[in-house]
Amino acid sequence: MYRIAPSILSADFANLGTEVREVIEAGADWIHFDVMDNHYVPNLTVGPAVAAAIKRYCVTGDGTPVPLDVHLMVEPVDELAAAFCEAGADLVSFHPEASRHVDRTLSLIHDAGAKTGLVFNPGTSLAALEWVIDKVDLVLLMSVNPGFGGQAFIESTYEKIDFARRLIDDSGRDIRLQVDGGVKTDNIADVAAAGADTFVAGSAIFGQASYRDAIDAMRTELGTVAQGEGK
Ligand code: DX5
Ligand code: ZN
Repeated sequence: MYRIAPSILSADFANLGTEVREVIEAGADWIHFDVMDNHYVPNLTVGPAVAAAIKRYCVTGDGTPVPLDVHLMVEPVDELAAAFCEAGADLVSFHPEASRHVDRTLSLIHDAGAKTGLVFNPGTSLAALEWVIDKVDLVLLMSVNPGFGGQAFIESTYEKIDFARRLIDDSGRDIRLQVDGGVKTDNIADVAAAGADTFVAGSAIFGQASYRDAIDAMRTELGTVAQGEGK
């Protein structure tokens, strides 16, 4: 099952609760929450207190919880990862090169009750996955260099998605393959056909007048992906 995860990086930060409620009403499957520290990436966003506030809005009108998907672009990782678990994150993803002890960080997140994600920049190999894949619930491939919304999708990501898909399938584990950066209506089907199952989109949703139209258009595109392609 495909998942669409709007990134609130492109939402109106003065009205975050309303934005989250509206994008969930429009059909968002997950809420993607980008954390930037002006150290690992050259930008600064929001912390655990804002995540805790947003968490209260992560529910559909009929009361179904909507996962809060926290993408940490911070260094070091461990203390903030624990704080975001405490704040109610359902998934916590981090960049392996930002943690001195990747296995320890994965265990820490898992023990705190959240699902774990490893994030790979466009120029980063997937080698860090090799010995920890049994502790990973999500692989996030960056299709832009992290730090900003609204950047163009880097084309070499397609081949990397295909490679990651094979690693995941070979592991036999239930691991989601998420892609983040420059995902839009006109490329989401190609991203899915390459093997991704979870799609972050910031500007392509929050930059539109109708969030519902934007998400519906993406789902229509996903519906065109041939059986056997994607997941
Ligand atoms: C970039 C963030 C992304 C960002 C994507 O560092 O991780 O989640 O919000 O924005 P778009 O979809 O506009 O490329
Ligand atoms: Zn992100």
